[in-house]
Amino acid sequence: MQWTSLFWFLMALPVDSTFECTEEAFQAILPSNATVAFTRTLAENSTFEVPIEDIAYPISPTQLRALCAVQVNVTSSPTSAFSFGLFLPDDWNSRFLVVGNGGFSGGINWLDMGAGLEYGFAVMSTDTGHNASGGDITWALNLPEKKIDFGYRAMHGSTVLAKHIVEAYYATVPKYNYFSGCSTGGRQGLKEVEMFPDDFDGVLAGAPAWWTSHLQPWTVKLGLLNLPLDAPHHIPPILFPIIGDEVLKQCDHQDGVLDQIISDPRGCEFNAEALLCESDVVDQLTDRCLTASQIETVKKIYNDYVEVDETFVFPRLELGSEEHWDFGLGRDQPSKLGTEYVKYFLLDDPDWDFYDYGHEIVEMADKLQPGNATVVNFDFSPFQKKGGKLLQYHGMSDALIPTGSSVYLYEQVLAMMKPKGIPLDDWFRFFLVPGGLHCSGSPANMNAPWYFAGANQAGDLGQSPGTVSGARSLRNANHDALLALMAWTENGTAPDHIIATKWNDDATMDRISRQRPLCPYPQFAILKGGSSDPNDPSAWSCTTSDERGRLRVQSNSAGPHRIL
Ligand SMILES: *[C@@H]1O[C@H](CO)[C@@H](O)[C@H](O)[C@H]1NC(C)=O
Ligand SMILES: *[C@@H]1O[C@H](CO)[C@@H](O)[C@H](O)[C@H]1NC(C)=O
Ligand SMILES: *[C@@H]1O[C@H](CO)[C@@H](O)[C@H](O)[C@H]1NC(C)=O
Ligand SMILES: *[C@@H]1O[C@H](CO)[C@@H](O)[C@H](O)[C@H]1NC(C)=O
Ligand SMILES: *[C@@H]1O[C@H](CO)[C@@H](O)[C@H](O)[C@H]1NC(C)=O
Ligand SMILES: *[C@@H]1O[C@H](CO)[C@@H](O)[C@H](O)[C@H]1NC(C)=O
Repeated sequence: MQWTSLFWFLMALPVDSTFECTEEAFQAILPSNATVAFTRTLAENSTFEVPIEDIAYPISPTQLRALCAVQVNVTSSPTSAFSFGLFLPDDWNSRFLVVGNGGFSGGINWLDMGAGLEYGFAVMSTDTGHNASGGDITWALNLPEKKIDFGYRAMHGSTVLAKHIVEAYYATVPKYNYFSGCSTGGRQGLKEVEMFPDDFDGVLAGAPAWWTSHLQPWTVKLGLLNLPLDAPHHIPPILFPIIGDEVLKQCDHQDGVLDQIISDPRGCEFNAEALLCESDVVDQLTDRCLTASQIETVKKIYNDYVEVDETFVFPRLELGSEEHWDFGLGRDQPSKLGTEYVKYFLLDDPDWDFYDYGHEIVEMADKLQPGNATVVNFDFSPFQKKGGKLLQYHGMSDALIPTGSSVYLYEQVLAMMKPKGIPLDDWFRFFLVPGGLHCSGSPANMNAPWYFAGANQAGDLGQSPGTVSGARSLRNANHDALLALMAWTENGTAPDHIIATKWNDDATMDRISRQRPLCPYPQFAILKGGSSDPNDPSAWSCTTSDERGRLRVQSNSAGPHRIL
């Protein structure tokens, strides 16, 4: 059954106005391809106990509003199947929300569903068609249909079916449909915009892993820069903070405000030689220094991945991204998100040795596009034409997915839309987060405002994602990206800025320590004149002009770019 014919099949099904939260009731409105796995009725303030076999997202959301939970399994091909979970609140805001996944994890993201539920949404998450956690991609070996489920089919198929269930359950269609995801979730949102523009009215896409065919090979390439462990150019992870502190020392003031936050990494002229050890016999940790060959590695990390023929492959890690260098640079092998992608997703060859990595891997990934996971068509005009709104963001200290890949996507869409006379500002805005890590948090030496209710952020703060009072006080379109997206989609109020928050203690959300507006690219925030307090959001304004001689280079170079 094609999805288009599935659509017509669903349209023809009867809709009951007194819908029970039972397997039978849901099964009766589903096509034969779909089976109800379970239903649960939860009272106000209860915990959804995540099924023990859901290894990817094991955290049970607590203090939920009263709801009906259902899981549905769907056959997508003779060799593949996906599942999705759906929370249907008693007290419904008449809207539907889908939350995204992370990495190559296969599982229903119940925790983030809990965060969405708190707004009153009917919330769905799909397992993307496999069962695995972390960087495990072994499940994909020789299973092209499973790769397609992961690439886009499970998300689209789950969305279509879940919308149908929502309509049947409440006996009315949702007024608006939203998506919120970060990392792989950001990619899922952009794939929907690209391929199924009718699925959502508003899409919140954080730090998107959209360029799968380059991102995953780059992950291998990056790891190799700091390998093997016994090479003179290898930098032991224990020295990463030394680099991070030196970068902060040099770059903080270059953005015009001495506030411990690197707000313009690409405008910083960084002198890596300042890290050079003074003599050969030193304790690097005490003397806080690097050898000459380690400094060469540092330079490579901060430069774009460019092939010998000057072909741009992938953007660099930014200055200020050192906090999470462990992830891609800190082990005896590159991250599995790179190596296992090549072995199990691209080549179907478990014996592939990452030391054999070469540019042909990128070429092959571009050609084969397994699972069609990459966003390849930057013509988003069908989404724009139907009134869709896209809000994208990316942390500037992200070491898992380079910030520049979001800039690159924005520039590609801009280049595609400009000749059509479609200004991006009306429907696609992109916010850079100075000092923002991957999706959540900020480096310990920066303590930058990072919370704005981006995808996963509430879940990262705790098990009761919606009910924590700290987040609740920020539940307005000025401080909450999802509410900002809704105000834009439903009322046409475009977000001129979104205020990000940092607490003294993020874990308990105890006392706000700093807030600052994030600005829509290519704008950036500047401190207004006078003796303003940089931790007060009203001290800042968004601008594109660098009248104060600051921020000489904004992050707009999408192509090869060399520093040092
Ligand atoms: C639904 O799918 C899950 C995950 O694959 C599986 O554990 C469960 O047994 C399935 N349930 C039904 C009723 O098919
Ligand atoms: C909700 O449940 C928690 C325990 O999970 C309890 O501490 C709290 O008092 C309950 N709140 C209400 C309003 O009943
Ligand atoms: C997922 O795989 C693990 C083993 O790695 C297993 O324990 C679990 O039951 C599986 N979950 C599902 C939903 O199939
Ligand atoms: C389920 O749907 C797939 C396509 O999505 C189709 O290939 C398969 O035949 C369907 N199975 C049944 C039992 O309808
Ligand atoms: C993948 O994308 C290519 C080109 O964009 C298209 O020709 C092909 O049909 C797609 N495959 C699937 C399974 O959607
Ligand atoms: C739209 O505007 C109305 C009137 O100001 C307001 O009540 C409503 O909350 C807004 N909707 C959204 C989604 O912001």
